[in-house]
Amino acid sequence: MKAQKKINVSHFLKKKEKGEKIVALTAYDAPTAKLAEECGVDLILVGDSMGMTMLGYKNTIPVTLEQSLHHSAAVRRGAEFSFIVGDMPFMTYQISPEQAMQNAARYLQEAMIDAVKLEGGEKTASTVERLVSAGVPVLGHIGLLPQNILTSGGYRITGKTQDDAERLVKDALALEKAGAFAIVLEGMSSEAAAEVTHNLKIPTIGIGAGPGCDGQVQVINDLLGLFTDFVPKHAKKYCDLSSEIRKALTAYTSDVKAGVFPGPDQSF
Ligand code: KIV
Repeated sequence: MKAQKKINVSHFLKKKEKGEKIVALTAYDAPTAKLAEECGVDLILVGDSMGMTMLGYKNTIPVTLEQSLHHSAAVRRGAEFSFIVGDMPFMTYQISPEQAMQNAARYLQEAMIDAVKLEGGEKTASTVERLVSAGVPVLGHIGLLPQNILTSGGYRITGKTQDDAERLVKDALALEKAGAFAIVLEGMSSEAAAEVTHNLKIPTIGIGAGPGCDGQVQVINDLLGLFTDFVPKHAKKYCDLSSEIRKALTAYTSDVKAGVFPGPDQSF
């Protein structure tokens, strides 16, 4: 059997050059990361979406560096060969490039993952440049920026006008110049995302940014039907785990109440 090779940062540029789509997915724990690795996911993002998917917050703002590192280390333990990116939470890199360097190093040294993701375009580029020149691989993130929710007042699709599309291209080029190895395009009109993708040598990974990106990323809870309030327009529900879990828990509850669990098979 061929030994499994660890995915490294050059994998993504090669995929773009060959015209092969990049498959990215969020994960927040070891068993799910193991499954993602087994199924051939190229990049696992330990997203700050963990605020909603794992921690019960309403948005990503309250997520802390310690929480993100804790989940990133768990994902690493589950997926030894995958390329794992830690999503730096709100205010863990915005204060200064020095703060970003110190905090980013913890993802590589303590959680032992492969890269970090930062939200923001031109304004974040100087920090990205410092990180990359110090040896930290960076995934950029432009378009809809969930860490700006309190100032933007809502989750709005970007790139709907030519001016905005041009701004997004500038943001993307600034990140490419700063050394980002790829850029997440979130909540962007398909046309603008295709224009950004066309203008870059590095790959784009879209979420709610249409089919013209070099790859796609999704929040795993949306794909598995674990988020019960609604299905976001950009997501496709590949199964309905919430219903399956409800069925199993209802059956367990009634078995215990009826005294039929544990039965002879589960007893010593
Ligand atoms: O936190 C996250 O899961 C993300 C993706 C939506 C790209 O940033």
